[in-house]
Amino acid sequence: MLRIAVVGATGAVGRECLALLDGGIVPVERAVPVASARSAGRDLGGELGLSLPLADLVTLDELDPGDLDVAVLSAGAEVSAREAERLASAGVLVVDNSSAFRMRPDVPLVVPQVNPGALDDRPAPGLVANPNCSTIQLVRALHPVHELAGLESVVVATYQAASGGGVRGLRELADGSRAVLDDPTAQGAPGGRFGQPLAFNLVPEIGLPDEDGFTHEERKLVREPRKILGLPDLRVSATAVRVPVFDCHSEAVHLRLSEPVTAAAVEDALEATPGLRVHRRAHSPSYPMPRTVFARREDRALVHVGRVRVDPEDHRALALWVVADNLWVGAALNALQIVALAAKNGWLA
Ligand SMILES: NC(=O)c1ccc[n+]([C@@H]2O[C@H](COP(=O)([O-])OP(=O)(O)OC[C@H]3O[C@@H](n4cnc5c(N)ncnc54)[C@H](OP(=O)(O)O)[C@@H]3O)[C@@H](O)[C@H]2O)c1
Repeated sequence: MLRIAVVGATGAVGRECLALLDGGIVPVERAVPVASARSAGRDLGGELGLSLPLADLVTLDELDPGDLDVAVLSAGAEVSAREAERLASAGVLVVDNSSAFRMRPDVPLVVPQVNPGALDDRPAPGLVANPNCSTIQLVRALHPVHELAGLESVVVATYQAASGGGVRGLRELADGSRAVLDDPTAQGAPGGRFGQPLAFNLVPEIGLPDEDGFTHEERKLVREPRKILGLPDLRVSATAVRVPVFDCHSEAVHLRLSEPVTAAAVEDALEATPGLRVHRRAHSPSYPMPRTVFARREDRALVHVGRVRVDPEDHRALALWVVADNLWVGAALNALQIVALAAKNGWLA
């Protein structure tokens, strides 16, 4: 039984962590919700209808690391950079949802279905990094394809939901949509969580661009799959786009493979992979969509792959459409699956 802190418990990811803990994903002796002083006095157990053993909500200053086995951090990179090592040095296993430690060589970056061996031993710093939400669903779809036919290069365009921008992002999309429905000439102003108004719009820039014009989010999609898949030379090119859907990220993925494949062989390989659901070409519709994936609890826990196509003129060129819930598969569920794997490996407590 674990004593686990959920840091960022009032946020989009933190709330889903609590809901998954409530569902019994790992055995919990006590969950401690942690948020900023802004949230003092909130009763998350009541708000979210939780029945797990839940302590009162505290701030990080009030959190006692001596009373914890695990802390899942979902309060942004600044908070992680400031607090993660303090907690880890007190003996707490820290699973960090932010980008603060992902590329540090001594910190494993883990997707339990893809590189579980990275958790065979307790990492020396006491930190495990949870990858970016778009990375997780991408590598879960890529891994079986790599085992089947070898990956040479990846071109991915993401269609990322407002929930990737947290509670504030969800609110901005809802408010902005209402404003445009009330007044179709309303343009909204630049700024806010997405840099531009998202309602009835597409924003093809997530994070700041670097000197080459690629954004932070796009760079993560290049670096993180290389580390997780153990393919340091994998060619990856990404375009990350924010789209006006509330939940679930989608990705159009184009792959260059070492070996020729057939669509049926790829569908079979994906279908044989636990945690993936294939929407086969023979069925209708042959594709997953954010709204249908988000509608069912069991679908929210899976990575969905459809529109599997092999270029008829080049049997080493494969195209896929991948959809997953960014808050579960891309964040809370992956983080708690890391905790479950650590517990199974026996080095957690
Ligand atoms: N959203 C996603 O799809 C997604 C996916 C993968 C990873 N992530 C990462 O997960 C983290 C959280 O994202 P989110 O979308 O859940 O954000 P969010 O909805 O904005 O929630 C942020 C949370 O952090 C808390 N917080 C902020 N400052 C704090 C402080 N000084 N001390 C304690 N708690 C503090 C907030 O508490 P208050 O309510 O009290 O302000 C809130 O609970 C980010 O690092 C993000 O990059 C998000």
